[in-house]
Amino acid sequence: MTTEQPTTEQPTTEQPTTEQPGLPRTVQHVYAPTCRLRPLASTDFDRVLQLERVLFGAGAWTYGMLADELAALGRWYVVAEPAGQDAVAVYGAGRKPVVGYAGLWFDGDVAQVMTIGVDPHYQRHGVGRSLMEALVERARKLKAEAVLLEVRVDNAPALALYERHGFERIGLRKRYYQPEDKDAFTMRLDLRRQEGAS
Ligand SMILES: CC(C)(COP(=O)(O)OP(=O)(O)OC[C@H]1O[C@@H](n2cnc3c(N)ncnc32)[C@H](O)[C@@H]1OP(=O)(O)O)[C@@H](O)C(=O)NCCC(=O)NCCS
Repeated sequence: MTTEQPTTEQPTTEQPTTEQPGLPRTVQHVYAPTCRLRPLASTDFDRVLQLERVLFGAGAWTYGMLADELAALGRWYVVAEPAGQDAVAVYGAGRKPVVGYAGLWFDGDVAQVMTIGVDPHYQRHGVGRSLMEALVERARKLKAEAVLLEVRVDNAPALALYERHGFERIGLRKRYYQPEDKDAFTMRLDLRRQEGAS
């Protein structure tokens, strides 16, 4: 993993419109999601694995898979954590909980989105968009030709997120996700074409 420090402060304007089950009442009423992105550290493993289980169920990465993944070549992972006055009001001055994470693998030609996930209590407030923008920006800096990813064919929120970022469906991988036994679309964002257009 790189030592570069992403410093994206990402203020969002949207406020929660409904109470969110599981979130402390103070958080529901005080929290206006502003997040900062920083590199994923080994001290984040427990929290990321907790989110993995909530978000991906049987397909969640284990500790070993996450550790191997981060140690592998060309990986770049970031996490999102609440920041700003609201976060201090809710969580105090200390460390804030990780509410999202995402990772990229660059093989020298193309970049592959390895994962992206946002705590269900913080979804629909721009955290996923912010993480995705960081991955694409990173891919551009690396001069990747394109960004590739797989997504479950029935994952409407993720498909919408990717299409919003310009990803196009280029193929179908039958039974790609195991043990869920679900098909995946492969998607591609062509960075060269975008560069040429700008
Ligand atoms: C996909 C995911 C990362 C999106 O995170 P998020 O923080 O909720 O996304 P954002 O609030 O930044 O939304 C960005 C865009 O994604 C799309 N989107 C996100 N959630 C959506 C939903 N439930 N329904 C439709 N579109 C959705 C929208 O286009 C949205 O833009 P908009 O708010 O301007 O309409 C999140 O739903 C998640 O963690 N899902 C479970 C894990 C997962 O499936 N990861 C992808 C594996 S391939």
